[in-house]
Amino acid sequence: MKTMTAFRRAIDKAPIVPVLTVQDVAYAAPLADALIKGGLTSVEVTLRTPAALEVIRIMGDMDNDLLVGAGTIISEGDVDAALKAGSDFLVTPGTSPLLLEALSNHDGVILPGISSASEAMARFDEGYGVMKFFPAEASGGASFLKSLAGPLPHMDFMPTGGITPKNAADYLALPNVIAIGGSWIATPADMANGDWDAITDKARDAVRIGRDKG
Ligand code: 3PG
Repeated sequence: MKTMTAFRRAIDKAPIVPVLTVQDVAYAAPLADALIKGGLTSVEVTLRTPAALEVIRIMGDMDNDLLVGAGTIISEGDVDAALKAGSDFLVTPGTSPLLLEALSNHDGVILPGISSASEAMARFDEGYGVMKFFPAEASGGASFLKSLAGPLPHMDFMPTGGITPKNAADYLALPNVIAIGGSWIATPADMANGDWDAITDKARDAVRIGRDKG
């Protein structure tokens, strides 16, 4: 896994993390190239397809600076498999006691999922300073995170779930949002159609929204 400093350096350049659900290992290399061409510096590959671990491996072995994280980590087995595949960071949709125990055995960039103030406070006490806010739109959206910044200004979040080009700027404007994640940049249909140029265009547009964060 990467250090939080390396992760922060990457998302400072481009605070948008595409959430990738990849059906075919053949997509891994052209997908990574398309996203990098669009200016992105990190990806989250969800462990929701049989191809996911090999995709992480292939992207990680490519000669570039892309940070390749694993998402949809929900069990100890997922943690072990994702790390074995060379994941640079881990993202979870939420936490169970068993998952927390498995995560506590590892250093590096781990973004546990939260959707309430109490969960955020518990994860912070356990040492997690950056968390995934999921599912962002369904859990109160940008206004929820804005409300948290008052009493809990020391915590940072990467919201995902329902984020689109329409609401991305609302999240990125918040002081406690270090990056946003979303699947719109590279959808399963884009990949199946081999529409790498469309992915590059969407990545570029997302980077532009991120740049306005200042
Ligand atoms: C996920 O893990 O599914 C992400 O949160 C992506 O959500 P989205 O498809 O709404 O962008």
